[in-house]
Amino acid sequence: MNETTVNRCEEILAVWLRQAFRAAFGEEHDWSSLSVRPATDPRFGDFQCNDAMQAAKLLRRPPRAVAEAALAAGPLPPMLAKAEIAGPGFINLTVRSEWLAEQVAALSAAPRFGIPDIGAGRTVVIDYSSPNVAKPMHIGHIRSTVIGNALDRIYRALGYRVISDNHLGDWGTQFGLLIQGYREFLSEQERENLTVELLERAYVQSYNRTKDDPSWLDVCKAELVKLQQGDAENRAIWERFIAISMEEFNRVYARLDVSFELTRGESYYNGMLADTVRQMQDKGLAAESEGALVVNLEEEGMPVCIVRKSDGGFNYATTDIATVRSRVEEFAPERVVYVTDERQQLHFRQFFAVCGKLGYQTRLEHVWFGLMRLPEGTFSTRQGNVIKLEALLDEAERRALEIIKEANGDMPEAEQKELAAAIGIGAIKYADLSHDPQTLIVFTWEKALALEGNSGPYLQYAYARLCSLLDKYAEQAPGRDPLANPLCLESDIERDLALRLLQFPAVVSRAAEVYKPSVLAEYLFGLSQTYSSFYQRSPVLKSEPSVRDSRIRLCAMTAQALSEGLGLLGIRTPRRI
Ligand code: ARG
Repeated sequence: MNETTVNRCEEILAVWLRQAFRAAFGEEHDWSSLSVRPATDPRFGDFQCNDAMQAAKLLRRPPRAVAEAALAAGPLPPMLAKAEIAGPGFINLTVRSEWLAEQVAALSAAPRFGIPDIGAGRTVVIDYSSPNVAKPMHIGHIRSTVIGNALDRIYRALGYRVISDNHLGDWGTQFGLLIQGYREFLSEQERENLTVELLERAYVQSYNRTKDDPSWLDVCKAELVKLQQGDAENRAIWERFIAISMEEFNRVYARLDVSFELTRGESYYNGMLADTVRQMQDKGLAAESEGALVVNLEEEGMPVCIVRKSDGGFNYATTDIATVRSRVEEFAPERVVYVTDERQQLHFRQFFAVCGKLGYQTRLEHVWFGLMRLPEGTFSTRQGNVIKLEALLDEAERRALEIIKEANGDMPEAEQKELAAAIGIGAIKYADLSHDPQTLIVFTWEKALALEGNSGPYLQYAYARLCSLLDKYAEQAPGRDPLANPLCLESDIERDLALRLLQFPAVVSRAAEVYKPSVLAEYLFGLSQTYSSFYQRSPVLKSEPSVRDSRIRLCAMTAQALSEGLGLLGIRTPRRI
């Protein structure tokens, strides 16, 4: 991704600075890597360039002297009010307010708040959520769903063609145990009112039976073979397991505002496995080892990747390799992105390496995330990290509803409920997305639902307050479009807010580039803090009309950035809270 095309202001300033370096030190050096970035502290101006130190090494001159010579090489360009040298040779740039206002105005006129079309229609497959049939979703699947969906939205906004694929675990040896467990351990009534929970129970019982009764395993294996050979009865039972599981998953997806282009389970690729393995053999990549067929990855510093087990069956890695092949043939994606928990890192590194050896033409990325510790009581006691996800969502909505009832007793009940869903689900998503995915997160209701501090509800509330301010403006100045008002950036805090707004497009592309929605969340929180200092120090509706009109435009733009940004995180932004 080319960041320089995204940071318009930085790029305009960098073009001037490179020119200044050429003027001072000649054309023989390549100054194209000189860059300008937003200042880390307003005391250092609006933008800064830290490359004089590097240039000093090249020119064998002290960095401050290098910076001075560059700035002395010509007059300051019209967009700059000031260029200063600080510390060992930082170049600090302060732009003129009129120029800043022009840049900001261009942003508010751009579609989607200036999010650049970096994708230009190129295809990205994002493989996320991907729970296993007949098992409840665990916390890893929830995080995969929330993080994967945010990446899905972000990549789409950046102009990529996104194929979101829910790669269900719907195939494998467990189905022999399951089918037989279903027949043996569920009552007729339970079979009629089948749920994922019942299926899981049947599986556990069936599995336990193998321990005291070895012939049980043989029976189950025979059922699996029947399923694989297309036996009508077993096939029908298996399809029912999928349908029941999908019903539950879809209920969760609907509540989370998540939808997929494709829901292709592992079974979809079943018919391609043998041929894919043959391809590996033809290329001399796979060798027999203790009855199994393996790809040696010693050079890559990894254990062998088993692609056919000694009993002739294929495994998870084989399926994933065939899946890449199929996706490449069908969609020709520029890259395929997988979102799972950290425990699968080796699996992905291994099969990525095999795909590389096979010459599959696409970039493969594993986006992994750490564990999230959930509050006591939402854990199932049976298994450490399995939670009833729906119970967690219910609890979030219940708690949000309490808060809303207290603050908005007069709101009609249906509206309160809808709001509670937006806030409760938003709180859960934001608690996840606001952290770097690769860290351990401890979830608490207090933090997730806090109305002050870095939380989803805080940002939603900030947006709703902006909307009500805009409504009041509409009453005061009927017919005026705040986004068409002339901008005049006088105070430091107005400039701060304007500079922050300008960063929005680059932040979105940065979040995509590093696969971290947290980059965007962090920005939105910072923006809302800058906005709130602006609002405390700069009266809007009570100011004289020209100041009021300019300030309300900054407010309207903040609202635009918040709703666009929260939307990219999959978080709803009600206008009224
Ligand atoms: N079903 C797997 C699990 O629950 C996740 C699948 C991730 N995607 C993939 N292509 N391997 O662990």
